[in-house]
Amino acid sequence: MPVSNYRRKYYDLFSGVYDKFVAFHSKDSQANVRQFFARVVPVQAGDRVLDICTGTGTLLAYLGKKVGKSGLVVGVDFSMGMLQVAKEKLETFQNVHLIESDAGYLPFKNSAFDAVTCSHAFYELKGETQDRTLRSIVRVLKPGKPFLMMEHDIPESRFVRFLLYVRFFSMGAKRAITILKHEKEMLQQYFRDVRKMETPTGRSKIWVCLNEDRSD
Ligand SMILES: C[S@@+](CC[C@H](N)C(=O)[O-])C[C@H]1O[C@@H](n2cnc3c(N)ncnc32)[C@H](O)[C@@H]1O
Repeated sequence: MPVSNYRRKYYDLFSGVYDKFVAFHSKDSQANVRQFFARVVPVQAGDRVLDICTGTGTLLAYLGKKVGKSGLVVGVDFSMGMLQVAKEKLETFQNVHLIESDAGYLPFKNSAFDAVTCSHAFYELKGETQDRTLRSIVRVLKPGKPFLMMEHDIPESRFVRFLLYVRFFSMGAKRAITILKHEKEMLQQYFRDVRKMETPTGRSKIWVCLNEDRSD
């Protein structure tokens, strides 16, 4: 079985308990950090937003409210298990759509979205998938529009820091060092302006990356 199928199966198995696990692990049963993330995504009524590696779709509901009935929110994930949980959660949202796809091969036209988001998932992509995903995001974003990526910040607790480093090094040592030391530079290879924003918990950070003002 190809590695990506094992990874998919892992997320499928995890999907049933994912929301409970996140609430417990992050001590955030109200999904406050994802609500904060949705608030800072600079979109308005009528806009189109793509959330990659959407998981159980918690962010999609907040984004759906923000862009309203005239807008569109698309959540992409390669795990049908995760998407099934998201579907049940989002039944009442007519403007939210779910699509099964690998983040590195986004099935959308060039310049289709006003914003692209990714929450607590980018670090879990393999090195070559990370590069492919960033290239895909640049392609599907409108010129000058933002990609926002929320990730765990380096934790103060030694033990939690150790666990994060284990996760990084499971991607390969070279990739781990790039992310730990040169994350901003990595994003700057794809986007013209990259800024870091803190979150209220201090445990997550958000990278706000503006797409080039290019013509297709
Ligand atoms: C840690 S979860 C994050 C879910 C959600 N964004 C959140 O904030 O809770 C990572 C998600 O990324 C998805 N994923 C991992 N690799 C992927 C890939 N190559 N393409 C699409 N989805 C992927 C997994 O199926 C999983 O749902």
